[in-house]
Amino acid sequence: MKSVTAKRQHPPVADRTSLRNRFARVREATRKLVEPLSDEDCALQSMPDASPVKWHLAHTTWFFETFVLSDIETHEPEDTRYAYLFNSYYNAVGAQYSRSDRGKISRPSLKEIASYRENTEHALLEKFDTLSREALRLVELGINHEQQHQELILTDIKHLFSFNPLWPKYRERWPLGGVNTRDAGWRRFERGAFEVGADGASFHFDNEAPRHAALVADFELATHPVTNAQFLEFIEDGGYQRAELWLDAGWRAVNSLGWKAPLYWRMADSHWRCFTLHGDAPIDPNAPVCHISFYEAEAFARWAQARLPSEFEWEIASRRVGRAGNFLESEIYHPTAPKSRSADRELAQMFGDVWEWTRSDYAPYPGYRPAAGAVGEYNGKFMSGQYVLKGGSCATPENHIRPSYRNFFPPESRWQFSGLRLARDAGSVERFSRPKTLAAPRFHNVARPAGISAREEISRGLLEDNARISPKFFYDLVGSQLFETITRLPEYYIPRAEAAIFDTNAEKMGDAIREALGEAFQIVDLGAGNCEKAERLIPFFKPSRYVAVDISAEFLKSAITRLVERFPEIPMAGVGMDFSEELALPADLGDLPTLIFYPGSSLGNFERAKAQMLLQSARAIHDRSAILLGVDLVKDVATLEAAYDDAAGVTAAFNRNVLTHVNKLIGADFDPAKWRHVAFFNSGQSRIEMHLEAIAAQAVAWEGGRRRFEKGERILTEYSHKWRGEALEGMLADAGFSLSNIWTDDEGRFAVALGAAR
Ligand code: AVI
Repeated sequence: MKSVTAKRQHPPVADRTSLRNRFARVREATRKLVEPLSDEDCALQSMPDASPVKWHLAHTTWFFETFVLSDIETHEPEDTRYAYLFNSYYNAVGAQYSRSDRGKISRPSLKEIASYRENTEHALLEKFDTLSREALRLVELGINHEQQHQELILTDIKHLFSFNPLWPKYRERWPLGGVNTRDAGWRRFERGAFEVGADGASFHFDNEAPRHAALVADFELATHPVTNAQFLEFIEDGGYQRAELWLDAGWRAVNSLGWKAPLYWRMADSHWRCFTLHGDAPIDPNAPVCHISFYEAEAFARWAQARLPSEFEWEIASRRVGRAGNFLESEIYHPTAPKSRSADRELAQMFGDVWEWTRSDYAPYPGYRPAAGAVGEYNGKFMSGQYVLKGGSCATPENHIRPSYRNFFPPESRWQFSGLRLARDAGSVERFSRPKTLAAPRFHNVARPAGISAREEISRGLLEDNARISPKFFYDLVGSQLFETITRLPEYYIPRAEAAIFDTNAEKMGDAIREALGEAFQIVDLGAGNCEKAERLIPFFKPSRYVAVDISAEFLKSAITRLVERFPEIPMAGVGMDFSEELALPADLGDLPTLIFYPGSSLGNFERAKAQMLLQSARAIHDRSAILLGVDLVKDVATLEAAYDDAAGVTAAFNRNVLTHVNKLIGADFDPAKWRHVAFFNSGQSRIEMHLEAIAAQAVAWEGGRRRFEKGERILTEYSHKWRGEALEGMLADAGFSLSNIWTDDEGRFAVALGAAR
């Protein structure tokens, strides 16, 4: 039979200028990546699979020097001995220093390696315009090679840090969780013959070629990767103790290596925690599970009555979705739960977060030919005993990944950010399709205390010498939408400053709260609305009950239903109540130590005496109570005033809209166009004041009242108090709380204060 020689598929070479820029960028990105590390961090090696950061820095430089610069006659090598020291595995280039001993090399120093990098970069950039097409092809390979080492720098340093009982942090900020994907579904794909492999439109490694046809039967792919919560179910169901779930080699690995959970998990006070690049952290139930081996992924899939996808099933599916995701550039360095729900049956998190193990052997494609020359050793010689992973991770540079990309690791490797997504033959039923039984939330509406009606309240305010309308009447449908827009305005810093504080300190806040209230406590979330802030904080605060309070229990139903699904183990209640009049919880919610959660500086909208009363009634809910309060801080007047008088005029529209709302509520005939928005900082009272000022004299009538306004006369619509530390402490003390912690954002604009019962 005549043998057919496959035509070598060369990736296209990008143009010279863009390659030069990409070269400079990738080198700079590596430099930035190692900035948080000390010289000692860079020198150590934690295991044979991981290399010291120093070695990565030198090896990626050696790659350019060896494969690109050494072909240029005038090039003087930095040090001829580096060829031995920093060659990884290229036998065609020469012998190599032992991989497992890389941590024993203290010289050249990190400083010398940094100058090796600089000199090599300089030499290459100088010659760039004269490089041949083949040399440019190797530069492009070198750029992609360096990106692979950027990921390895992170995974290797994480492995190293994990041995240190001080739990070093590569990065301080901890990513807050997103939504629950527990009810994630399946996306079905019809059988067919599909083209797989690199499409040749841009750079690819030789192992992605040639593109060829693959035959695939009907299959279904889970819309989301497997989460920590799901993996925990496997652990709790004896997953690591049940031989029947494991491949033989996997079961041997479980026993010889003593696996009981993913790498970096540890049990503390009967809770699982994990080591991350942000130090020690709780497990986020909704984030994708990671640091599992192929064997664990495979056993989990069997337990879940599903299977791992083949690399082709994964690739075909991935071509239908966008490539956005949590990559190295998001600087999170940990897989996270998605920030929002995706549509039913839509694939999510295919790219970024975690590499997904497939059931496919890392084998050559039909007609595979390694790249020519020594770089032919790059991929091909590893095609035995390894499995393919797809999609990239939170440590992969974003522009490094594509549907055809084939990562590969031995089946017992766990130190990469590796997780899984389930697949199944079309039509099968698996464990996670069963609905969970959730504790039904309770809803209460607390009637407005006997007193004046909204109509009377507005009418009286309008008739006062200094007319006023309470800010609570801002929030009809249009007003709520306008406020939503305000929260995204560049001038209105409050939501961003507060979110940054929660982002950075959620875990510490949780510790401080439990110290004040003990382990069993409830959160009472005032003005909870869509419960978004609480949803982010609950995993860190770990309350025994969550109570959302807002003007009507109806408003809370959909948010609480969402929360119950996400945290089925936490009882929840929704209370409809106008707490600006009186904060009195239904009696059956008064039995637990209570954290009053009042973020957003909403307390600032109360007059001082009313704010004080609210704090006192919060203090009275339970003997053991605490308050977590968001407060805006006094700062320069220009910043303050711009936040309440933005350039786009949204706050002005928000202010004027109160008149439209009042027209509806009491049948008044205000003409909003005749009123001007006024906002200024009253420094004596330490508050922003918002008013509406009559542009012309006018008469206004409503059911049961009328009034004439002169030109320039004002209606007060809102105070927004701003605090300094001492005033805040005094206000809390007057209500019976002592200020136990205060967290501020980097720019000192906003504070979140914790007051504990004295
Ligand atoms: C809801 N509250 C905290 C806002 C504030 O900043 O006082 C209301 C607001 N008024 C104008 N802009 C925002």
